[in-house]
Amino acid sequence: MTKKVDIFDTTLRDGEQVPGCKLNTEEKIIIALQLEELGVDIIEAGFPVSSPGDFESVVQISKAIKNATICALSRAVEQDIKVAGESIAFAKRGRIHTGIATSEMHRVHKLRLTEDQLLEKAVFCVKYAKTFVEDVEFYAEDAGRTDNVFLAKVIQAVVNAGATVLNIPDTTGYCLPQQYGEKIKFLMENVKGIEKCTVSTHCHDDLGLSTANSVSGVFNGARQVECTINGIGERAGNTALEEVVMILKQHSHLGYDTNINTKLLAKTSRMVADIMKMPVQANKAIIGDNAFAHSSGIHQDGVIKHRENYEIMNPLDVGVDQSTITLTARSGRAAVAYKAKLLGYNVTKDELNVIYAKFIKVADKQKTVSDEDLLAILKS
Ligand code: KIV
Ligand code: ZN
Repeated sequence: MTKKVDIFDTTLRDGEQVPGCKLNTEEKIIIALQLEELGVDIIEAGFPVSSPGDFESVVQISKAIKNATICALSRAVEQDIKVAGESIAFAKRGRIHTGIATSEMHRVHKLRLTEDQLLEKAVFCVKYAKTFVEDVEFYAEDAGRTDNVFLAKVIQAVVNAGATVLNIPDTTGYCLPQQYGEKIKFLMENVKGIEKCTVSTHCHDDLGLSTANSVSGVFNGARQVECTINGIGERAGNTALEEVVMILKQHSHLGYDTNINTKLLAKTSRMVADIMKMPVQANKAIIGDNAFAHSSGIHQDGVIKHRENYEIMNPLDVGVDQSTITLTARSGRAAVAYKAKLLGYNVTKDELNVIYAKFIKVADKQKTVSDEDLLAILKS
């Protein structure tokens, strides 16, 4: 039986916190509608107490979205929770995401609370959020650096208080995949009633491990992954939605599934990059410009003979029309002949030798050889 993993997208909250990525209500609605079409289960629409503009965005997204759950973030503060509750009042399905930091580092040096005071606040925020909405997600900020025994104590308390979703963030991107997986496993085995809740991952990318950690969380019992389009988010970013979804799809033998229509990944990525003015690096997995581009002679020859020699995914599955062969000084005869054929020239072996000699002279002078450049060579 397949195990459904909920995709919780926080592009409009964790992603939007990034300097330069701030969106107005109209832009947020455009992205939210695209996320719904993509098949995201939960859209974290904002942090409503942070500004009147963000409150209004959450209200309007709640009205516009038909299927996905709309989630509003709050701290463990009465006013935050009240405003979050009001912001999702129009949602078909609404959720309040509330919580507090649990690591000793944050408890002592940020919150300045005792363990008992922290436990009291955690229980309070869940119970108060429950007066607005049934679906209440609790986050244990900096859970990645929290001692597992204390973390289990906090999580047990919020499960008893009625939390429906338990978010275990690796806020600082500190954990190793095995360590994060063990943390989730420890909670699954030591918190009574946890099986009635959904356990969630929320991993940041400070060491480049956010995707690996999220997947490790899933393998150990998490059934919700918090992520963003293109992996945008605080500092080095959040877990990239497209990466987690394609990992679970490409390894479908493991039995995990999501609701995501992967054919919309490239379009969604472009939309978010354009609206947020946050370009995607060319070598980004799944949706970077070079993700399906082949430039060295050995690879090009292999792809031309059989695409799967160098591609583990079909580009069409993520909404990219086709793989590309980019001609550079590292390209071989096979790629030049292939490109020439696409341009309408079927060249013989002898002709190819002459063309290739001209090609390599041009290629050595520039970074890439365009179709126009090749046409000029073919005609010369
Ligand atoms: O990284 C984090 O811990 C967060 C929480 C607010 C969920 O973004
Ligand atoms: Zn975060």
